[in-house]
Amino acid sequence: MKQYLLSPGPTAVPERVLLRMAAPMIHHRTPQFSAIFAETRTMLQTIHKTQSDVLMLSSSGSGAMEAAVMALCAPGETMIFVNGGKFGERWGDIAKKHGVNSVEIKVAWGNAVAIKDVQAALDAHPHAKAVFVQASDTSTTTEHPIKEIAALTKNLDCLTVIDAITALGVIDMPMDAWGLDVVISGSQKALMLPPGLATIAISEKAWAMIETTDGCSSFYFDLLTERKNQKAGKDTTAWTPAVSLIIGLNEVLKMMLEEGLDELYARHTLLAKATRAGFDALGMRLVSTAPATSATGAFVPESVDGGAFVKYLRDTMGVTFAGGQDDLTGKIIRVAHLGYYDVFDVCTIMSAVEIALNRFGYPVKMGAGVGAAQAVLAERFPKA
Ligand SMILES: Cc1ncc(COP(=O)(O)O)c(C=O)c1O
Repeated sequence: MKQYLLSPGPTAVPERVLLRMAAPMIHHRTPQFSAIFAETRTMLQTIHKTQSDVLMLSSSGSGAMEAAVMALCAPGETMIFVNGGKFGERWGDIAKKHGVNSVEIKVAWGNAVAIKDVQAALDAHPHAKAVFVQASDTSTTTEHPIKEIAALTKNLDCLTVIDAITALGVIDMPMDAWGLDVVISGSQKALMLPPGLATIAISEKAWAMIETTDGCSSFYFDLLTERKNQKAGKDTTAWTPAVSLIIGLNEVLKMMLEEGLDELYARHTLLAKATRAGFDALGMRLVSTAPATSATGAFVPESVDGGAFVKYLRDTMGVTFAGGQDDLTGKIIRVAHLGYYDVFDVCTIMSAVEIALNRFGYPVKMGAGVGAAQAVLAERFPKA
């Protein structure tokens, strides 16, 4: 049975990247590696639209999230975080672990945070070091208004820290123009790589705070040590890096720049729009009122057990999506459209959902979802 990996991470790795990573291993303290590293770092700055440093860390995305909290907040200091889903919740868990006083902005799952609530938290906690928020919380497939949040902290002694793990390479989020202070990503999402590499972009304002915060309790994730090693001229990492993943990232970033950033974002926007149209035609309500461009969550019909549905798709049909978490367990399906995706992947998504609904005895009109998606997807091609 052919397997289709259509979950919001890990995502499929393009053949070109697999081939590049399959080359014989090289040593990381060599001019050969440093040349690749320097080029990759520069391309990361291009993707982020920043002049600031972008570091590469050998960890999954959560490692970079923890590194950011530890570097910016000393025990006993205060941070604000947006909790509108599983990943928002994680900021609070990290803070708790490190004795950082965390102020939660609780958001009902499926909604974006209201700017007035962020403003109120900033007003109530003028000494907060930073606002930590997801650009896109994958658990609810929701995008938060990060540009507006950054505008609130821009002139304060407070930072905006973005988990862009399912946003970098999906939506345009120009770091310098928007005043984003820290932007985090992970390899297994739109960066189209196997898991294990995280990136963290850090503004000058954030470095100034890191330098004066006695917060970094981590030896391995000491961002100041990484900055010394990763800077231009040194072009390596403090510890042994994920060599193959960095080489793969080099290829991925070339692919993105060859496509063109505007085209990259337009493609993701179109695929998301088509997916939403497909679910709408199937009568499957979206989970989010501010749906993400990276992945779409939809409620399965009440007569269908969502857990069994996702398992059936994976084990009987060879199509891997994701289900719901916590309160949404068994109620939703989450399908991805980030990274190595194009129009016919959305057709596959819709077709698989329709067949599975049919097999679960739901009276689905075959082709309704695919057709609605196709009507949107056709826009991707010029009139002949
Ligand atoms: C928005 C978001 N944040 C954080 C994470 C956690 O990243 P990782 O699993 O790479 O540690 C994920 C992973 O799914 C995510 O989607």
